[in-house]
Amino acid sequence: MFNDKQIFYMILVTGATGHFGNAVIEFLLKKGVPASNISALARDSAKAEALKAKGVTIKIGDYDNYSALMQAFKGVDQLLLVSGSDLEKRGKQHENVVKAAVEAGVKHIYYTSIDRKSDNAEASPIALVMKTHLDTERHIKSSGMAYTLLRNNIYADMIPMFLGEQVANTGVFFPAGEGKVAFATRENMAEATAAVLASREHQNKELVFSNTDSISFGDIAAMLSDTLGTKIPYVNPTAEDFAQALSSAGVPAPIVTMSVEWAEAFKQGTFSQTSTDLEKLLGRKPTTVKEYLSGVYSS
Ligand SMILES: NC(=O)c1ccc[n+]([C@@H]2O[C@H](COP(=O)([O-])OP(=O)(O)OC[C@H]3O[C@@H](n4cnc5c(N)ncnc54)[C@H](OP(=O)(O)O)[C@@H]3O)[C@@H](O)[C@H]2O)c1
Repeated sequence: MFNDKQIFYMILVTGATGHFGNAVIEFLLKKGVPASNISALARDSAKAEALKAKGVTIKIGDYDNYSALMQAFKGVDQLLLVSGSDLEKRGKQHENVVKAAVEAGVKHIYYTSIDRKSDNAEASPIALVMKTHLDTERHIKSSGMAYTLLRNNIYADMIPMFLGEQVANTGVFFPAGEGKVAFATRENMAEATAAVLASREHQNKELVFSNTDSISFGDIAAMLSDTLGTKIPYVNPTAEDFAQALSSAGVPAPIVTMSVEWAEAFKQGTFSQTSTDLEKLLGRKPTTVKEYLSGVYSS
């Protein structure tokens, strides 16, 4: 919590109309950062009405539009760059954001990067995802601004997407083998990010946001079995059988490919490492996957 003597800097959060950016702003407000010290970057002002009503300043800009970004970043001290959602475009988009931030005089940039075991992006099953994050990290580190890299593990919120809507009938049908992932909730990561921004510490540091345990998809099946009160088996199909089943169910080809690639990354243990950074910033244990899943599947 903060007192009246605390000097607040102007903080700008990008991706503010999305789940993560919006949650970060909510946690900043909860921590006592005045709304007048928070700006939100949005592409569409209509989507930012609720934030505006709370007193947050809305700046309009797209990661593709360099001059709009420059305008939006004027007077900003701390900028949180929430990674973009267009995989093909976001390498260049993030470069735009970093350059515009330098030109506008931003002092400290924070970036929602990705956790990983190796920096060899090309060898990763999710090569483009890794490459865009690693390229952005490099741009940030060579920008001259103070930086904080927030290496996010996988959101627990993604698990239902990997399991599919029919999980109660199909079992956990996912080709991740014994691979473990240190899933943590998006909300926990957003809260910790707000804590980092509000503290104005962690200059030129990399923090790892993961749970304190990593779990396999077999563990997820056991957790779901407990929650639903019925046996949900873990089926570990081959990548080919998995792709075939998804295609037969009408899943579009690019989504099938992406799902296979993510499963392979999980199988290889890309996200199995754990850290206590999240726990320390939250001041408590992160939400467990079991708690998260029981919230989603018991309702
Ligand atoms: N660690 C994980 O497991 C995980 C999982 C999924 C995603 N991610 C990454 O984390 C980011 C945040 O996650 P999320 O759940 O908050 O995603 P989200 O709800 O889809 O939000 C993405 C935000 O980025 C904004 N955005 C996208 N392209 C933009 C552009 N060209 N210019 C300006 N703003 C742009 C969106 O604006 P609009 O509202 O206008 O679309 C939205 O506000 C994602 O974008 C993705 O890079 C991480």
